[in-house]
Amino acid sequence: MSEEDKPTDWFESLYRDASDEGEGVPWTNMATHPSFAAWLETNSLQGSEKEALVVGCGMGDDAIELESWGYQVTAFDVAESAIDHCKRRFPDSTVDFQTADLFDENKQWRHRFDFVLEIYTIQALLPKYAETLIPKIADFVAPGGRLLVVTVTGDKPRSFEDGPPWILTPDHVTEFESLGLEIVDRMVREAASKANNDVWVTTFERPA
Ligand SMILES: C[S@@+](CC[C@H](N)C(=O)[O-])C[C@H]1O[C@@H](n2cnc3c(N)ncnc32)[C@H](O)[C@@H]1O
Repeated sequence: MSEEDKPTDWFESLYRDASDEGEGVPWTNMATHPSFAAWLETNSLQGSEKEALVVGCGMGDDAIELESWGYQVTAFDVAESAIDHCKRRFPDSTVDFQTADLFDENKQWRHRFDFVLEIYTIQALLPKYAETLIPKIADFVAPGGRLLVVTVTGDKPRSFEDGPPWILTPDHVTEFESLGLEIVDRMVREAASKANNDVWVTTFERPA
C-alpha cells in the first residue's frame, strides 16, 4: 500500500520516536500556539459550563490553554503516541485526551462543542483530503458555538511535492461558510516559513 493510501501513519511513528520534551516533533511549540496566543490577546473566552474540542492536538498545549479558560476540553489526535505524550505531560489535567481519527464518523461530537480549535491538521494531509476534512471539523460546532481555524494560506496551486504542510487557498477557508458557519473575524499574520504566504486566523460562528 502506498503512503497516499495510509495518509496518517507517519504521525504515529514520528510521535513514537519523539520525547515528552518535544524533540522530534518539528511543528510543536511546547506552549500555546503563537497564533492562538495572539488571538487570545484580543478575544476573550468564557468556558465555564462549556465544552471545547481541539482537533489534531499534538503535544496538548492548546488543550491546556483552553482548560485554563474554564472549558471542559476534549482533545484528540490520530497518533496514539501523541496522546500518550499529552497524558504524561499533563497528568493532573481534566482534559479528555483521546486517540481518534478525523476521517472517522465521530457522531458523538456532532454539533456539540462551544469552541473548536483547528491548527494545521487539514494541511498536514494531502490536498485531496481537504474537502473531506473541512465538513467534519465544521460539524463539531454547536449552534451558537465558535470555530477558530489557523491555516497557512496562499493562492498557488498545490502539488504533492509542495508539502507537508500543503498551503490552503482562500477557497478552502471560505468553504467553511458553505457549511452553515459565518466568518466573524480574520486576523492575518506573517508566516514563519513558506515565504509569500500568510497565516490566517479565522473565527467562525454557527448561528444559534
Ligand atoms: C502539523 S501537526 C499540528 C499539531 C498541533 N495542532 C499544533 O499546532 O502543534 C498535525 C497534527 O494532526 C494530527 N492528525 C493528522 N491527521 C489526523 C487525523 N486524521 N485525525 C486526527 N489527528 C490527525 C497529527 O498527528 C498531528 O499531531
